[in-house]
Amino acid sequence: MPGNSDVGVFGLGPMGENFALNLLSRGFSVSIYNRTPERTRTFLERVGGAAGLTGTYSLRDFVASLSRPRRIFLFVKAGQPVDEVIAQLGPHLEPGDVLLDCGNSHFRDSDRRYEELLRKGIDFVGMGVSGGYEGALKGPSMMAGGSIRGYGSVEGVLREAAAKHRGDPCVSYFGPGGSGHLVKTVHNGIEYAMMAAIAEVYGVLRNGLGMGPDEASSVFEGWSSGELSSFLVEATYRVLRYREEGSGEPLIERVLDVAEQKGTGIWTAQLSLDLGVPAPSIAEAVHGRFVSAMRDFRQRASTYACAASLPRAEGEVVETCRWSLYLTFVASYLQGSLLLEAASKSLGYGFDVAEAFRVWRAGCIIRSRIVERAYAALSAFQGEGRTLQLMEEFQRDIREHVSEWGGFVALAARLGVPAPVTSSALNWYLAITSRRLTANLVQALRDYFGRHGFQRIDMHGTFSSGWGRE
Ligand code: 6PG
Repeated sequence: MPGNSDVGVFGLGPMGENFALNLLSRGFSVSIYNRTPERTRTFLERVGGAAGLTGTYSLRDFVASLSRPRRIFLFVKAGQPVDEVIAQLGPHLEPGDVLLDCGNSHFRDSDRRYEELLRKGIDFVGMGVSGGYEGALKGPSMMAGGSIRGYGSVEGVLREAAAKHRGDPCVSYFGPGGSGHLVKTVHNGIEYAMMAAIAEVYGVLRNGLGMGPDEASSVFEGWSSGELSSFLVEATYRVLRYREEGSGEPLIERVLDVAEQKGTGIWTAQLSLDLGVPAPSIAEAVHGRFVSAMRDFRQRASTYACAASLPRAEGEVVETCRWSLYLTFVASYLQGSLLLEAASKSLGYGFDVAEAFRVWRAGCIIRSRIVERAYAALSAFQGEGRTLQLMEEFQRDIREHVSEWGGFVALAARLGVPAPVTSSALNWYLAITSRRLTANLVQALRDYFGRHGFQRIDMHGTFSSGWGRE
């Protein structure tokens, strides 16, 4: 084995395969390995004798085929399999080698793996890769964390392979441990909220205006070049208008209304609860997936469904939907931004939120005009309070269209179309921008029944009252 491949790719699922092809297309030599040799063979057959590609069938040959320090991209299922693969590779590696975990790993696992491998001299990089299998091939957005030395050793490769936003590679190093995976997790939380918000609008168009998939597709297509310009809105109109070969029917009508999940949305919601930083639209999007999974129950409970008829003209409803969706998108990014600010500080990662928006401008699932605008706004300022800077940037839009936002929620409720993500986004915004909430009453009630105490606006200290009970 010559030992001169630039990098190794371990794991030949759709992401690993396409990432290997991406690297080859940029002129890097790549060794590949897969747990089941059949998959390696099939891949090699498919791509023919691609220059620079070396197929290997044992871990020893795989590692031996790499130039030093070895740089290995792992594309294996998140969780236990990553630990197993690290344990298998361990004996073949030497200090200075770099392992990059490119799956959707929990950032806490990446914190741990980084520490464990640091003790062995192995440079571990936990890296979120966004853009799906197409992104892996053409250029993904990549969010790295962990060993800075490891990142430095592979940075040139990553910058070549990454999506480019006007020439700027969408890859960054966010700090130690699991910081890269943390940023990817919040990215996915935003992705959940955006998709759920789109689906809610689709519900109003379908159930309220009686639109079929083609008509709804045209509405989303019309929106995809304005403020709502984004990968997901474009994906929506393509999905809606797609007709199945054979039947010629819109495939969307045949898809079961059960949305699955692999965990990153839940982790974002948990992070939000752990940090005490509200991200309700993301949490609602996760709840929405749970609700979708309760299919049998829903079938039975639908006996009790209620709905009203539509009171407004179609054009007005469509415009209400458009602005509402736009503001829900904005709120979802703001919630993610606030979470990242808090997590970066309290988990000690120390990154600037602006960097996340920079790498989200191209390649990833949540890329959009809003992200471009957000990054432009953030790069014009420095310092603390990044989310507040974003609020400043979008406040005019919000002020002008908050009535459409509320109008959508009211309309959906009248139609009997559930819209928890949109309504939580609106309510989150109303609450987070409230100078004076009614939490004084909640605190007073806590004191009333539990003597938990309260603070006053006119005096320092903690007080308690009998509230006229004794
Ligand atoms: C991306 C996606 C990608 C994948 C999610 C889906 O950025 O390319 O987020 O990572 O689509 O893992 O997650 P769920 O299975 O939880 O919806």
